[in-house]
Amino acid sequence: MAKLEIKNVGFSYDGETDVLDNINLSVEAGELVCVLGTSGCGKSTLFNIISGLNKPDRGSVSLDGEDITGKAGKISYMLQKDLLLPYRTIEFNAALPLIIKGENKKSAIKKVQPLFGRFGLEGTQKKYPAELSGGMRQRAALLRTYMFSDNVALLDEPFSALDTLTRGDIHRWYISMMEEINLTTIFVTHDIDEAILLSDRICIMRGKPGTFTDEIVIEKKRPRPADFNLTEEFLGYKRLILEKLR
Ligand SMILES: Nc1ncnc2c1ncn2[C@@H]1O[C@H](COP(=O)(O)OP(=O)(O)O)[C@@H](O)[C@H]1O
Ligand SMILES: [Mg+2]
Repeated sequence: MAKLEIKNVGFSYDGETDVLDNINLSVEAGELVCVLGTSGCGKSTLFNIISGLNKPDRGSVSLDGEDITGKAGKISYMLQKDLLLPYRTIEFNAALPLIIKGENKKSAIKKVQPLFGRFGLEGTQKKYPAELSGGMRQRAALLRTYMFSDNVALLDEPFSALDTLTRGDIHRWYISMMEEINLTTIFVTHDIDEAILLSDRICIMRGKPGTFTDEIVIEKKRPRPADFNLTEEFLGYKRLILEKLR
């Protein structure tokens, strides 16, 4: 059984013009799938549906075989530009999902402690977001996202605000962390290189209404070498994707 199954999803904001149509996607546990598409094609709208924030007009979303269409709180979701609260400590920020779910502050903060190491944040518990580097802030935001649920993570352009070097570090860290805890991830990017570097599979989204027009499997085994983006194999994928996007 697939971890996450999206069947025939269609959606319109105004009841007239479809923004999404006939979206189908099946994701296995531990897979890293990328949704790649131009701005405005409906990527964030699709994530709002998968996370249950919006209910689709047609189709269904299921998690481990259970229908969760329109049900929020089952899947972790990091929205585009999901910022940490500036006047709260990192541990409070990380524990926020549990506090929102009704857990008391003290026990919520206690529960997040064991994860600081795994997220490369040891020693930052009492600090404030402004005291951390961009990369660390991003890992803190990912930890907070993970605290919503340890099932499936939806990340909407998670790395786009980081500079190139930090981004490379976070990519490597995210992949190894994901494998360690068998986390399933779907992420959005409009950066083709990032999509090829990270993904098991790339779903190309196009059109109005937006739908998946192509799926490209990146066969290269992990861990992928640091210079993978300089190889013929990488360029082959890039050429193929550019062709599909045109
Ligand atoms: N809350 C909303 N109400 C009405 N239209 C929206 C809303 N959010 C997005 N749209 C429209 O839906 C389309 C898809 O938007 P979006 O899902 O944000 O695309 P992407 O994330 O791929 O850039 C766009 O045409 C956008 O203008
Ligand atoms: Mg978007």
